[in-house]
Amino acid sequence: MGRTGERIVAVKTCKDNTQHGRKVLMNETSVMKQLGAHPNVIGLIGAITVTEPITLITEYAGSGSLRNLLRKLHMEGDLMSTGGRMVIIYTGVDSLGRQEQIQATAVTLLGWAWQIANGMTYVTEKGFNHGDVTARNILVTDQGTVKLCDFSHSQSSQAGIMSDTHTIPVQSAAPEILQTGQRSEASDVWAFGVLLWEITTLGNELYSGIKEEDMLPYLLDGNRLKQSDYCSTQLYELMQSAWELVPSERPSFRQLQQELQTMISSAHKHIDLMVVHTPGAMLSENDCTTSSCRSKQETSTHQCSQNNSIYDRHMSLNES
Ligand SMILES: Nc1ncnc2c1ncn2[C@@H]1O[C@H](COP(=O)(O)OP(=O)(O)O)[C@@H](O)[C@H]1O
Ligand SMILES: [Mg+2]
Repeated sequence: MGRTGERIVAVKTCKDNTQHGRKVLMNETSVMKQLGAHPNVIGLIGAITVTEPITLITEYAGSGSLRNLLRKLHMEGDLMSTGGRMVIIYTGVDSLGRQEQIQATAVTLLGWAWQIANGMTYVTEKGFNHGDVTARNILVTDQGTVKLCDFSHSQSSQAGIMSDTHTIPVQSAAPEILQTGQRSEASDVWAFGVLLWEITTLGNELYSGIKEEDMLPYLLDGNRLKQSDYCSTQLYELMQSAWELVPSERPSFRQLQQELQTMISSAHKHIDLMVVHTPGAMLSENDCTTSSCRSKQETSTHQCSQNNSIYDRHMSLNES
């Protein structure tokens, strides 16, 4: 990453500079070029493909990957109540050494899921599979917009079979990917369901205790990620629909997006950030069942309401 004039950009070069590595980066460049601009896809600024090293230049997302952001909220965030709604506030320093404050409510979390589904609807309807939909490959800008990145595994949806399945995380892979490498919108939808689970648990470990080599039989036996205490049955059913064994029975990204849109209007019923559910009770360090998340009593409603989340301010969907 560096400065070009006044603009900060992200620069991606070949990790190993092997022929394979160069091919992968060329593919990513080509897919991004064909995709064009969309608010939920990281923007391509330029690429150097005629001289070594092959370089991809994209817009810079100041809050980094969604995976890191979820973990920061989980591990270092303060749980507060403001205006009767729970909010997790993280204050720290970003990768450029700038002060950052991130606030997330249930609306914020569902809004991120909606934005990813929106980006994936676009990618799918442009005729591509992403191939590695996971929280590490979702970026968050300073303005709180969520954007898909890392198109290194992307292919035209005509391609059908994924050649390099060994390089994608087994935990996000649909059973048909693990079996035959057969990829489609439906395999991206499966991965999106896993991502939705990661969002609602603020980045909990996936399939804890299950070895990679046991994943396929585990899924074929009908096992899935479990419903967390903080997630509504309706939202969990949406995840389950993405994890149907038969790919054609999974919803499309457009359908998922519509379902999420409906849920956002009542987001607080679907993700319960208030880990202690005792109306009127004082929240204290010990009350917080999520041990890593520090909870606080409502001490700063005024401060919170003045200091609105960058995410809520910039999200295209309004809190109900
Ligand atoms: N445009 C960007 N702005 C900010 N951080 C980025 C950007 N692109 C990538 N990153 C960071 O680098 C990580 C790896 O990028 P990615 O494109 O997924 O590469 P890889 O192919 O190595 O997985 C991301 O998870 C994110 O933390
Ligand atoms: Mg990646």
